[in-house]
Amino acid sequence: MGGDDECVIVVREFDPSKDLASVEEVEKRCEVGPSGKLSLFTDLLGDPICRVRHSPAFLMLVAELSSTKEIVGMIRGCIKTVTCGKKLSRNTKTNDPSKPLPVYTKVAYILGLRVSPSHRRMGIGLKLVLRMEEWFVQNGTEYSYLATENDNQASVNLFTDKCGYSKFRTPSILVNPVFAHRLPVSNRVSLIKLSPSDAESLYRRRFSTIEFFPRDIDSVLNNRLSLGTFLAVPRGCCYTQETWAGCDKFLSDPPESWAVLSVWNCKDVFRLEVRGASRMRKTLAKTTRIVDKLLPFLRLPSIPEVFKPFGLHFLYGVGGEGPSAAKLVYALCAHAHNLAKEGGCSVVATEVANGEPLKAGVPHWKRLSCDADLWCIKRLGEDYSDGSVGDWTKSPPGLSIFVDPREF
Ligand SMILES: CC(C)(COP(=O)(O)OP(=O)(O)OC[C@H]1O[C@@H](n2cnc3c(N)ncnc32)[C@H](O)[C@@H]1OP(=O)(O)O)[C@@H](O)C(=O)NCCC(=O)NCCS
Repeated sequence: MGGDDECVIVVREFDPSKDLASVEEVEKRCEVGPSGKLSLFTDLLGDPICRVRHSPAFLMLVAELSSTKEIVGMIRGCIKTVTCGKKLSRNTKTNDPSKPLPVYTKVAYILGLRVSPSHRRMGIGLKLVLRMEEWFVQNGTEYSYLATENDNQASVNLFTDKCGYSKFRTPSILVNPVFAHRLPVSNRVSLIKLSPSDAESLYRRRFSTIEFFPRDIDSVLNNRLSLGTFLAVPRGCCYTQETWAGCDKFLSDPPESWAVLSVWNCKDVFRLEVRGASRMRKTLAKTTRIVDKLLPFLRLPSIPEVFKPFGLHFLYGVGGEGPSAAKLVYALCAHAHNLAKEGGCSVVATEVANGEPLKAGVPHWKRLSCDADLWCIKRLGEDYSDGSVGDWTKSPPGLSIFVDPREF
């Protein structure tokens, strides 16, 4: 940073006892995504590490001007173990050889990188990333990854040109508004709420070979932010909430089609706000909501309140099997909408692989959604996983991806 004393940057660990106010100040000044258009702002409700604290290991760093002690940037990172591929079992005594097993690896995830607009393009973002990566390496992670908007040129350039990341996956963020009216759930579908242990069993046995499946799925499902896992089956099949006899029984004789998803309460973690909308757009949105509230039986697709801080629920573990799985997902999404309405949320979001076959069953508004959320990845070390996948960064995408709700 040259010899200018003003610009000497110290990167150190975030200290909640003294940094809270200044970190919040930087957060407030930072839009996420390209500037000049509508921008999304995040309010972390006074807890800057809220989006990493539920992971097995996490760290937040801040960049401080040595002369004035002003905080001008920050970054969060977390470490966990996830599936990076699959292999066939060699031990035929304990495993069914036709069923592939997951290959796990230790990965790090970078999020919440922010540099104050007044101090950009001075190398601070790069410094924060490099220091975070040092911590990842010290903790034996094999890969580091992050998600960014495709058109966030600053972020894409920083990671791909300067830090050696490559573009890896482009899952779709699907966002649906929460209306003032309830959505009907098809009467051809039965919904069953699973206990966390049944949900764990179902996810491990059917989803654990999907990439990014977290090995500690049990801690995700048992987290207070996880509002429940719901299974949808065709009405008339032998499974109902009343007769439910556990996941083993279900998986030993499943119906032809079934679908599942879990709901995560992001509203208690952070609020979002869309800024930059014209007065006319805001008034129009408000009018649709008033009419929907007054006349809910009309089921008007009202525009949600997104121009003030709003909360959301995130749907994770969306999956299923059989020819009617997408229809069953649709019914689950209607149920999730109603839960979000009761919870006072403005939108429901989920993130699925670009080629996910069940995407057709997830209702969403294109304008609120993001067709290609760019995930970039870098290999930090070799052979921490069992090596059977080779270099994961070079592997083609699967049909599905497991998006961890802790990081959304
Ligand atoms: C992305 C962000 C953190 C970059 O921070 P920064 O301190 O300005 O970045 P640096 O000065 O370390 O820049 C390093 C490299 O990143 C790239 N870069 C940074 N800003 C850029 C911009 N506005 N346009 C194009 N490339 C840019 C360049 O390659 C740059 O190297 P160079 O200056 O030698 O050309 C900052 O712009 C920011 O806070 N943006 C808003 C929040 C956000 O989008 N965060 C990322 C979410 S993952």
